[in-house]
Amino acid sequence: MRQVTPPKRLRLAVLASGRGSNFLAIQEASQNGQLQADICLLISDQASAPALERARNLGIKALFIDPKAFPDRDAYESELVRHLQGEGIDFVVLAGYMRLVGRVILKAYQDRVLNIHPALLPSFPGLHAQRQAVEYGVKYSGCTVHFVDQGMDTGPIIRQAVVPVEENDTEDSLAERILVQEHQLYWQVLQLLAEGRVYIEGRKVYIV
Ligand code: GAR
Repeated sequence: MRQVTPPKRLRLAVLASGRGSNFLAIQEASQNGQLQADICLLISDQASAPALERARNLGIKALFIDPKAFPDRDAYESELVRHLQGEGIDFVVLAGYMRLVGRVILKAYQDRVLNIHPALLPSFPGLHAQRQAVEYGVKYSGCTVHFVDQGMDTGPIIRQAVVPVEENDTEDSLAERILVQEHQLYWQVLQLLAEGRVYIEGRKVYIV
């Protein structure tokens, strides 16, 4: 069993493709002192992502890096890693980043890439997790924070929050209630990491 990181104030980079509400929730926890970490960089693969504007308004360095400007994923990710290492980033936090992370980032940041997914993994990976849950008819869904590996939403699970599914739920109404939990769960996991309380062995994550 190995400790993921010893206690320290963490330097975070957020990767986001969209609106960035999880980014904002983490930033708020950092600002109000609940989270011993600083978001030092936000990177988006979408020029129009509201997350970019939101970061800039908060004075956080925000970069749009266009995957299409690179010959392949390795080259694109090498550019990301150059920026991440340039900022001395400890953890890469995926927050609505709609792209599979590949070997270049995972090699540079082994056990240091986190993702939040709006379902209780391993159920409903991939796109439209909330719609999948409603259509399947499960009684409980929720959200999962996990380490990222090469698969789609398959890495070791750190923590989950459960959200009951109501009979009249739509994709949107369920997503809204799950999002409330996401906004608490993500910074809480990051705080556990900052406190040096997260250990990993194989697929299993232990909080001590
Ligand atoms: C969140 O619900 C997050 O869990 C989900 O995208 C949304 C991003 O919202 N991520 C995935 O589905 C990843 N598979 P945000 O941009 O407001 O944080």
